[in-house]
Amino acid sequence: MGLSQSTIAIVKATAASAAANAEAITTRMYEILFETHPETKEFFKDADPDQHKKLAGAVCVYAANIDNLGALSKAVEKMAKTHVLVKVQPEHYPIVGISLLSAVKDVLGDAATDEVLEAWKEAYFFLADILIAHEKELYKQQI
Ligand code: HEM
Repeated sequence: MGLSQSTIAIVKATAASAAANAEAITTRMYEILFETHPETKEFFKDADPDQHKKLAGAVCVYAANIDNLGALSKAVEKMAKTHVLVKVQPEHYPIVGISLLSAVKDVLGDAATDEVLEAWKEAYFFLADILIAHEKELYKQQI
């Protein structure tokens, strides 16, 4: 099932404001993630100190292409490969997603209305499902 038209419209309408605040949002996301789920720190122990910029970049590219997801297939491939190398599992996606949405709320304040947060939540889990499906295939190929 695809994303609803209203989600696409809201994500597109708020993509520029998310892009302008992307680094602040992802920096805050890691703070929340590591505070609420310290066990996830292990994943990032060898991570590039600029990791938050990569995630921010990915979120911006995704938001800008929300109605043209075919443009993202190469980026999705790369993310999935990296995730499989560090052994990310499907159950980690909700943890990261909730941390990301809390960070959006903290950084955007009143601009992050319930409607906006709901649209971004739907969009995040849509992308998460695409990544999870790719990663499942890659894990299978490793056996
Ligand atoms: C929709 C959700 C997600 C997006 C958009 C995303 C995006 C990205 C991107 C763009 C990269 C860099 C890939 C590269 O350049 O090779 C990356 C790497 C990584 N991601 Fe994700 N990610 C997501 C979910 C997760 C989850 C759930 C985890 C689990 C905790 C995770 C952990 C990592 C780790 C550990 C790296 C490698 C960091 C490094 O070594 O530099 N990601 N992710």
